[in-house]
Amino acid sequence: MHAKIAVLPGDGIGPEVTTEAVALLDVVAHLYNHQFEFETAPIGGNAIDSTGTPLPEMTLTLAKQSDGVLLGAVGGPRWDKEPAHRRPETGLLALRKGLDVFANLRPIQVFSNLVDASPLKREIVDGVDMLIVRELTGGLYFGRPRGRTEGPDGIDVVDTLQYSEREIRRILKLGFEIAEKRRRSLTSVDKANVLESSRVWREVAEAMAQDYPKVKLSHQLVDSAAMQIVRDPKRFDVVVTENLFGDILSDEAAVITGSIGLLPSASLGADGPGIYEPIHGSAPDIAGQGVANPLATMLSAAMLLRHSLGLEQEAQVVEDGVRRVLEEGARTPDLTGSSIGKADVIGTEEMAKRVR
Ligand code: NAI
Ligand code: MG
Repeated sequence: MHAKIAVLPGDGIGPEVTTEAVALLDVVAHLYNHQFEFETAPIGGNAIDSTGTPLPEMTLTLAKQSDGVLLGAVGGPRWDKEPAHRRPETGLLALRKGLDVFANLRPIQVFSNLVDASPLKREIVDGVDMLIVRELTGGLYFGRPRGRTEGPDGIDVVDTLQYSEREIRRILKLGFEIAEKRRRSLTSVDKANVLESSRVWREVAEAMAQDYPKVKLSHQLVDSAAMQIVRDPKRFDVVVTENLFGDILSDEAAVITGSIGLLPSASLGADGPGIYEPIHGSAPDIAGQGVANPLATMLSAAMLLRHSLGLEQEAQVVEDGVRRVLEEGARTPDLTGSSIGKADVIGTEEMAKRVR
């Protein structure tokens, strides 16, 4: 297969970790006889420095013309005093909007030999393998009306949780499709005891379940889901939910793994390219030292193979490679805290090389 991949390294450790993910994709291309064409463009703080804007037009154009976007991270103290429209994260938000990525996928996986990094007990986290599908372009973050007015009791303020049936359908459909390829369990999280939007969400999910007879659909209230994620995270396979609920639950679920340097993400649209990036930021405290953990970005590259290029086998080979090096005891410094045992501590390049 021939594919064009846009590479947006960004700031801080972004360039260090994307370099390794690109090298990994090169090896995959070589092994499986694919041709991946990489083109790099600026985003975030470095784009502000070189072009005056966090998302240059040429970067967005390149992203739109690609089959998938691999992104590092943006931001850093150098740009903290920029005005809002010139902040690094504005570039990331504009990219997500420009590609109309309505679904954010966050797999939460606990690697057996890293369970001691988790703040939760071993027996609770060993074997966790869930995927949160968060709606990203609607819901409470974008609903209208919003804003403040002066009322008789002081400021009167409104935010609106709004969805069209089309928006609910497309995110639920993705949830069912992904569940079908995993352990066939889909938990739809809502607040149907209070919110009308959640009641419609449930109705649409129930009707859609008829099209996916192999998938077991269940509904859970968001407050109860928040409890279950720390009490018994193993019960979850795929979780699909509204924008704000998903933001909160995905951060909650991320901490149970205990290692931010390992968690990838994907943001998908209807048919255009997806954006693949680690969930961590630009880590200015360790940038340039060659110690950043490249695995989150390499696992993001695996998601690119799976979701944008349809290369499931290749994606699994990458994921197996990551599991293998961790089993062998290889650790970047971020994975050596607590009592992880006799670690073989290595830097970014060496870690990446062992996976390849
Ligand atoms: P951060 O995720 O960059 O760092 C948090 C802590 O985790 C730091 O101690 C860092 O050294 C460590 N860390 C993160 N990734 C690591 C990796 N791959 N290997 C080893 N250690 C790693 O979050 P923080 O410090 O809150 O933000 C730093 C900058 O990144 C800020 O400018 C922030 O705005 C930006 N940021 C960007 C994001 C993005 O581009 N998607 C997301 C989050 C923050
Ligand atoms: Mg968040």
